[in-house]
Amino acid sequence: MHATMLKKIDKSALKIGMFVEDFVGQWDSNSPVRRRFMITSPSELAHLRSSPAITAVIINSARGEDAMASETASSSPAPAEPASLDKRECLIKIGSSSKALATLFEGLAAERSVDLAKVNSIASDVQDMMEKEPLALIGATRIKSKDQVTFQHSIAVSALMMHLAAHLGYSNGKVRLMGVAGLLHDIGKTRIPDEVLNKSGKLSQEELQIIRDHPKLGYEILKDDPHVPDVVKDICLHHHEKLDGTGYPDGLSGSEISEYVRLSTICDVYDAVTSHRPYKKRWTHRDAVEFMLLEKSAFDRNMLHAFFDSLEALG
Ligand SMILES: [Fe+2]
Ligand SMILES: [Fe+2]
Repeated sequence: MHATMLKKIDKSALKIGMFVEDFVGQWDSNSPVRRRFMITSPSELAHLRSSPAITAVIINSARGEDAMASETASSSPAPAEPASLDKRECLIKIGSSSKALATLFEGLAAERSVDLAKVNSIASDVQDMMEKEPLALIGATRIKSKDQVTFQHSIAVSALMMHLAAHLGYSNGKVRLMGVAGLLHDIGKTRIPDEVLNKSGKLSQEELQIIRDHPKLGYEILKDDPHVPDVVKDICLHHHEKLDGTGYPDGLSGSEISEYVRLSTICDVYDAVTSHRPYKKRWTHRDAVEFMLLEKSAFDRNMLHAFFDSLEALG
């Protein structure tokens, strides 16, 4: 029998066969990853060790391998590890993707057409990050600075949409299409004054209506552009529709809402509720799951489960 079953150890001391009870670090209660599991593979081990959001791990020695006394985490700060580079790199990449998207959105005012090649290249960068460092990308995009909210949200939604699309077995072309749609879905927000968009207090009816105009405003920007795929236009106009007909702007319901739009609404709402915004605190992953399951009449249920599975698969 072990005197202490729960031990906090440095992530570098993790071994295959250890039973993970919880994580310590920025990760904490907002992790989209399952907890309480046995580490069974080298890749799982490498993943945990290199995850920048985790600083230490609570293991349960009654359910798995124990740690040597010397490996128990001390209060001294852990030495810098290459893993932190991944996060830094990821933050830099998100920053540059976000900037590229901002430039692109700004350019719209002058040119009135979307540089689709540019959107594709941003989507390709996001896809690349999502494949290599999904946890760092999802973690880093939880916090959105005031002036970058729309861009960082667009990048996060793009990443989540591509991840879910790949999880659903979509072709590479369709996965990328979902990424492009994610980047452009809120493009109409560029037509809404910042003081309304970023207001921290309660919105008046009038302000709410202005914000609710963004799908239509976005669609106006894209609709006559022959290079923008119809699916992207559909997602831009309808990503606030709900299956039960209570959404906007058209109050569509059921089969009127395409599969791609359904996919987008799930990723959009998930990112919105789990993010820090200037005007609200974020919810934990668990809160978001609970809320979305309760709102089941709004979402495609099968797709919702696939989405949660796709996040669990990251761990
Ligand atoms: Fe939106
Ligand atoms: Fe959105």
